[in-house]
Amino acid sequence: MRLEGKTALITGAARGLGLEFARAYIVEGATVALADVDGDGVRNAAAALGPGALAIRMDVSRQDEIDAGFAEAIGKLGHLDIVINNAALFTAAPTAEVTRAEYDRAFAVNAGGTFFCLQAAARHMIARGRGGKIINMASQAGRRGEPLVGVYCATKAAVISMTQSTGLDLIRYGINVNAIAPGVVDGAHWEGVDAHFARLENRPLGEKKRIVGASVPLGRMARAADLTGMAIFLASAEADYIVAQTYGVDGGNWMA
Ligand SMILES: NC(=O)c1ccc[n+]([C@@H]2O[C@H](COP(=O)([O-])OP(=O)(O)OC[C@H]3O[C@@H](n4cnc5c(N)ncnc54)[C@H](O)[C@@H]3O)[C@@H](O)[C@H]2O)c1
Repeated sequence: MRLEGKTALITGAARGLGLEFARAYIVEGATVALADVDGDGVRNAAAALGPGALAIRMDVSRQDEIDAGFAEAIGKLGHLDIVINNAALFTAAPTAEVTRAEYDRAFAVNAGGTFFCLQAAARHMIARGRGGKIINMASQAGRRGEPLVGVYCATKAAVISMTQSTGLDLIRYGINVNAIAPGVVDGAHWEGVDAHFARLENRPLGEKKRIVGASVPLGRMARAADLTGMAIFLASAEADYIVAQTYGVDGGNWMA
């Protein structure tokens, strides 16, 4: 087991990729705090995973909840070796129709949530003096423009940028900061994306998802389990020399 005895906190872990990462980490021997703004969802998810999982209700856009959530996780698990900043929300609208409220919320959760959870993790890991692994969830959307997705794309470009700068800053403490950039991953997130495009592009439900999946060079959308290998690798000692990188795990989608 590659994460035997390790402790991790994963944000946005009530469902989707965060939940799949939690499941995979527990299989690899870690104990995991699942943190999510969806309190019932994260409690049910942790209960289903069993004794290696702890549920924490935490809104990553609120500093008081980050402080309380990290304190609870560290108090109950003893310390944190690994943090995955995975919580995010998707938003899409033509440029002329984006509201200030949508913009502020997306940046508060996707960019601010990532930065200040990363900061909370870094403060703990620096004080403990044993290093650690921080993994940020970016996206192919952070590496290119998409006409109706300007705000979400910008939040994910910010995640790639903060991975670079914080990675360079924190490696002197033995803290490796890296990121994963998925392409299109099937699940509840993409059901929401599909519904956005059905409305914005006047398509039947399911059509955008079908087109996008068929255009992936590998031939299909990712499943959450396709991402777990990279999440385990970046959290393991095998990644000790990897700093400030963002890895595409996207079936070749961004390159295409
Ligand atoms: N699914 C994809 O196609 C895809 C592609 C590229 C990148 N990503 C990124 O991967 C990550 C996970 O994606 P997913 O598909 O599992 O998404 P998802 O929407 O299925 O899950 C996101 C989770 O984050 C939680 N969350 C939302 N706002 C929060 C907040 N303020 N505080 C705490 N938790 C909050 C939600 O409750 C949910 O449980 C995200 O960062 C997403 O941007 C996903």
